[in-house]
Amino acid sequence: MKFFIDTANLNEIREAHDLGVLDGVTTNPSLMAKEGISGQERIIQHYKDICKIVDGDVSAEVISTDFEGMIKEGKILAELDDKIVVKVPMIKDGVKAIRYFSSEGIKTNCTLVFSAGQAILAAKAGATYVSPFIGRLDDVSTDGLQLIEQLVTIYDNYGYGTQILAASVRHTMHLVQCAEIGADVVTCPLSVITALLNHPLTDIGLAKFLADHKKANS
Ligand code: G3P
Repeated sequence: MKFFIDTANLNEIREAHDLGVLDGVTTNPSLMAKEGISGQERIIQHYKDICKIVDGDVSAEVISTDFEGMIKEGKILAELDDKIVVKVPMIKDGVKAIRYFSSEGIKTNCTLVFSAGQAILAAKAGATYVSPFIGRLDDVSTDGLQLIEQLVTIYDNYGYGTQILAASVRHTMHLVQCAEIGADVVTCPLSVITALLNHPLTDIGLAKFLADHKKANS
């Protein structure tokens, strides 16, 4: 399973990259705004900066909601770097745009997916990635992980090439369960990745190893 980091914060991207486990980055307009990145020029420069840090795919989201606008924006984004994946919302014109980008060899990530039906449409349109938002489903008392299970079954049934990118991953159990189910990718904050390190028995065990070594060598 690939690990993407869901942030536009360059320091966090660097930290995840330095850990040696990072396969890509996802951003969205909210995450860009959180970093204070605004205006076309700064946004473009920021995507270029992200691409310099990571080796894998970098999702950059379009703002337009009409077909022509999405195509125009997506082409500009895709030309920035081979790593760029054009992130397109799951709306009617978005599906048309994904089909267009797919025929042009431009990678896409279909975002804001909350149902199996939406995910089937994304796959049929030729999306490179589909992003079901599991945390936001949990927020409204609907089992987000159940959607991932459904998608794994459906995509396997028909051999769809679209990769299931579990998004809105809020904690380590989300991540581990996505791995059990067979999601292709998870995208999550740095805190979720680093929380995977933690186990009290590791801390206790290491403290004992070091204490025993010190005793034997003093
Ligand atoms: O990038 C989309 C998604 O991962 C957002 O997560 O926590 O805002 O629902 P969240």
